[in-house]
Amino acid sequence: MSQLPILPDTNPSRAVLDSFRISIAKRLSETLPLTLEQAFAGVDYGKKGEDFTVALPRFRLPGKVAEIAATVLEGFQPDEWIESIVIDRSFLHFRVNTTNMIFQVLNQVDALTHLTPSGQPEYGSNDSGKGKRVVIEYSSPNIVKEFHLGHLRSTIIGAFLANLYKACGWEVISMNYLGDWGTQFGMVATGYEKYGSQAEFDQDPIMHLYNVYVKVTKDLETDPKDGDEDVLKKWRSWRETSLEKYQEAYDQLNIKFDVYTGESNVSKESMDKAFAQLEDMGLISDRDFAKEVDLNKWNLKAPIILTTYPDGTSMYLTHDIGGAMERYEQYKFDKMIYVVGAAQDFHLAQVFKVLELMGFPWAKNLLHINYGMVQGMSTQKGTAVFLDQIIKKAGNVMHEQMKKNDEKYAVIQDPQVTSLEIGIMGIKIQDMAAKWFVSILLSSPSLSDFVVNGLYGSSRINDYTFNWDRMLSFEGDTGPYLQHKNPQLLPLPPTLQIATHTLAQYPNAREIAFLLGTYPDVVNIALKTHEPSGVVTFAFKLVHAILTAWDRVIVKGEEDVEKASAKMFLYECAKEVLAAAMHLLSIRPLERM
Ligand code: ARG
Repeated sequence: MSQLPILPDTNPSRAVLDSFRISIAKRLSETLPLTLEQAFAGVDYGKKGEDFTVALPRFRLPGKVAEIAATVLEGFQPDEWIESIVIDRSFLHFRVNTTNMIFQVLNQVDALTHLTPSGQPEYGSNDSGKGKRVVIEYSSPNIVKEFHLGHLRSTIIGAFLANLYKACGWEVISMNYLGDWGTQFGMVATGYEKYGSQAEFDQDPIMHLYNVYVKVTKDLETDPKDGDEDVLKKWRSWRETSLEKYQEAYDQLNIKFDVYTGESNVSKESMDKAFAQLEDMGLISDRDFAKEVDLNKWNLKAPIILTTYPDGTSMYLTHDIGGAMERYEQYKFDKMIYVVGAAQDFHLAQVFKVLELMGFPWAKNLLHINYGMVQGMSTQKGTAVFLDQIIKKAGNVMHEQMKKNDEKYAVIQDPQVTSLEIGIMGIKIQDMAAKWFVSILLSSPSLSDFVVNGLYGSSRINDYTFNWDRMLSFEGDTGPYLQHKNPQLLPLPPTLQIATHTLAQYPNAREIAFLLGTYPDVVNIALKTHEPSGVVTFAFKLVHAILTAWDRVIVKGEEDVEKASAKMFLYECAKEVLAAAMHLLSIRPLERM
């Protein structure tokens, strides 16, 4: 095989389609006045089913586009990298060599099926973050208040980011920063005498504390007496119990945290230190009863910060500043990500600005990943939503749906567990892919429009309305289907060359192999954009490609054992990669459905 040049920022040993791209770039740079790098930057994935496309005008070369295109085609001989080139107005479409592509991709997937030391599937992962540490804060609910849908989104997107960074070689510290301090605790403590009930607390502590909170805010506006031993004792045990409940719910969601911390863990010392430092720098001015940092110059208005309530309880912003300082001391992170709704854009901009003004060089490594609001997921009219209720409802909705098909229902081993798992997947997918995707699923169960509609879905910043009915579409066609149709394992073909030869006869097999080849790029793009939707789209495209292939590239009924095992090998590789994508999305693959 002819030697290809080496290009920075490419990684053929982990993303073998890079080789094909490099060969296209090489051909361009040999026929046009372009460097290899310039040419490479112009090689994109094709949009309408082509493998790779080059938009010639982007090179701004002198002369007519048609002539430039003709130059590239002149004397073209297919080789082991490129099968054909087609001119389409000002575009050139490159079709890669089918046999070699299938061979290279499957070989690579197969060679990288093991898990990395951090438990990530190797294929699709890379080591761009090697030696670097990121703290990712997500979920962060408020302990006596409602777990709102913003918290759910933060939980889902945050877990995705944690997996994604791990897959890119970063050391990840995932952190849950509980809203566990402030006047609300004093309120509940005061109101508990009157409204609290041990029995109700034991049954559903999170809900009960919330109810007490709601009632007490209605009749009084008392602040806690700081240091009241009794109040503190109660608070500690409530926090503990609430946390246990949350942990159960997170476990069900397949989401883990390395660190549970909270506003109450930010020490008074670090907040005082921040305050003193800001004062020394002349950044603090008095205003009424409060102290503020003047951020007018930076268009961040003047927030009142670092002020304290009469009882000594400090504010949300103050905690975030002290908290960031402590986290840096403790973790010396290279990056810290806050996964918090867009409603707090302003708040986090202030936090980051103050830390920057304080002169911390690490302040530039703070990143706010925001997202839009979710509407429409309330479980009971008029009451707040809690995480465990959302999970329960997802399972129930799915269970009801499954019962509608007697035949299928009868073969499901544990309907309770299965429906819960698929229900959770439904919530996650709906959240990460946003509305366009679900509506397409609904209107066309064949998923074909979905595929036509392109690789990148709606971004996380868009608001969306959650719809329980939409979740039902997950019961039929999608993820777990794959395991369901899994036939017995056949012996592997004698060599991958022979397998490739069989597979190259099938356009559907080609499509699957190429898609598998794009996965490392899907991961890279997600890391740049911090968007889960591209990974969701990839997973569904792959499922769709497999389902379409299933009746054409048949295993069952294929008499030739060698061919049957060649095809099986393709499905095995596809399953591995699908599992890797699902892993990124924190979705547990079901063994059987
Ligand atoms: N507990 C907060 C809330 O529910 C979210 C915390 C976000 N993180 C932070 N470091 N401020 O609104």
